[in-house]
Amino acid sequence: MFARFRRKRINPILRDLLQETHLSVNDFIYPLFAKNGSNIKEEVASMPGVFQMSIDEIVKECDVLKELGIKSIILFGIPDVKDSVGSDAMCEHGIIAETIRQVKASHPDIFVVTDLCFCEYTDHGHCGVIDPVLETVDNDITLDNLSKQAVVHAKAGADMIAPSGMMDGMIQAIRGGLDAAGFGNLPVMSYSTKFASAYYGPFRDVAESSPGKGDRKSYQMNPANRNEAIAESVADEREGADILMVKPALAYMDIIRDVKNNTTLPLAVYNVSGEYSMLKMAAKAGVIDYDAVMMETLLGFKRAGADIIITYHAKEAAQLLQ
Ligand code: PBG
Ligand code: ZN
Repeated sequence: MFARFRRKRINPILRDLLQETHLSVNDFIYPLFAKNGSNIKEEVASMPGVFQMSIDEIVKECDVLKELGIKSIILFGIPDVKDSVGSDAMCEHGIIAETIRQVKASHPDIFVVTDLCFCEYTDHGHCGVIDPVLETVDNDITLDNLSKQAVVHAKAGADMIAPSGMMDGMIQAIRGGLDAAGFGNLPVMSYSTKFASAYYGPFRDVAESSPGKGDRKSYQMNPANRNEAIAESVADEREGADILMVKPALAYMDIIRDVKNNTTLPLAVYNVSGEYSMLKMAAKAGVIDYDAVMMETLLGFKRAGADIIITYHAKEAAQLLQ
């Protein structure tokens, strides 16, 4: 006696009936990069199909997204002026605050998530204020600034805050700041398990956020560590995060499953820039069937345990799902 698995694979209708994991346009959050000016839509060489956009272009882009059924975006800001603390990020008239206000004014039905960090806003490119002795980010001073930045985003009308800086205690600090300012109902999606990854390379071109000196290994995680990956996410759950995240996604499928099995919170994954660009470049070289590989990859994230997928592929995938 042996199992006849193929019995259930012959009829395509039965195959569909038995499909365990499904991908939906409701799973996606689409990243957008905002800068000052008007009529600006500049493609990034390392990420074909991804643009730096002025706010008017982002507002137009939201129409395209809605037509495709995409209802959620995550915003990143590229400020005109950078300084040592990242002041633009904490300013009510900074690039992100302005973008949120204009997007929500034109599209109240778009769910606006904001990436909460300082690396795009500091002249040194690190994710917070630098401690001159440690020569890396000062954790606790940065917590105060993150809390201020969160309140600026909330006042501008953000629907969800997504802190990405991997500071210890960031969720508690941000939750406290939001609650004290009267935003007790605003959810926080933590980049709770984020690795120091070479897969962020193309993003740093788009967001103009490469660290001038050094790397992010004193705050982002060592890719070799599995126990610590779980502990990081569990800690953020205890601090009050509403949604957890694993980032990057593709090389961390085991971590996605581990975190999923250690929490009852919803889990997001960030299908990062390098993962996107690899497929784009392979398609350009003619070595893969881009659409099929993309859909298989996204489905893989769901199977691994993702509830939400932040992905530059969202528009193309939504088109195929239609
Ligand atoms: C900011 C941030 C980064 C990404 C998302 N938020 C870059 C980094 O940590 O260096 C990466 C996203 C991507 O690669 O697509 N902290
Ligand atoms: Zn950062």
